[in-house]
Amino acid sequence: MTIAARQFEGLRPQAIKTAYARLSKYYDVLFGPLLRPARLAAVKRVNALPGTEVLEVGVGTGLALPHYSAGKRIVGIDMSADMLAKARLRAARLPNVRAVLEMDAQATNFADGQFDIAVAMFVASVVPDPRALLAEMRRVVKPGGSVLFVNHFAGETGVPEWWRRATEAVSRRVGWRADFRMRDIFKAGDLAGSSVVPMPPLGLFDLVELRN
Ligand SMILES: C[S@@+](CC[C@H](N)C(=O)[O-])C[C@H]1O[C@@H](n2cnc3c(N)ncnc32)[C@H](O)[C@@H]1O
Repeated sequence: MTIAARQFEGLRPQAIKTAYARLSKYYDVLFGPLLRPARLAAVKRVNALPGTEVLEVGVGTGLALPHYSAGKRIVGIDMSADMLAKARLRAARLPNVRAVLEMDAQATNFADGQFDIAVAMFVASVVPDPRALLAEMRRVVKPGGSVLFVNHFAGETGVPEWWRRATEAVSRRVGWRADFRMRDIFKAGDLAGSSVVPMPPLGLFDLVELRN
């Protein structure tokens, strides 16, 4: 287990599944509108990238799925069966969604280089080992492809008190880490040649795009 992973002890897979089983009923109402601008901006970027094969990790209830362009072929994975049940209802109406699968994003069954693009929206600060997530996304994306994250990243000076308070209850319920930092997932050098773009609302989220 990496140093970053040790910091996330407590967010065990079973705890995540239990949390999201409860949350799946309300997720779209609670987190649909709040995260929508950053979610749509990430999908817009995916649509603009070359390549057709897209992996969305932590697809949740599938809120992003209707927004991919027809030319992209999407596979969505998540470890919560309850969130996926909702995603499957959405996917049934979307011919460009190839599959929605129950899988741990840190250790998938996909072949090396199977995808052109992998994207994780609001997932990196939930998984037990964010660096394992990054390594797995890099493995399944072909060389030259793209790996994207949308997440809240705390600044190097720490978390503003107002943000900590605002997210405390939510963080406990959804397994989010309000104090999740870039260095919890990226090692020195990972961000070379990448772009980091602040996202609405209020630049609370960043879209990080890595060339594989
Ligand atoms: C905050 S939700 C984000 C859902 C969706 N991406 C969105 O834009 O609303 C985090 C999702 O990550 C999933 N997740 C957490 N850890 C995971 C893992 N190791 N592998 C796959 N999915 C995971 C959760 O089940 C949940 O559906």
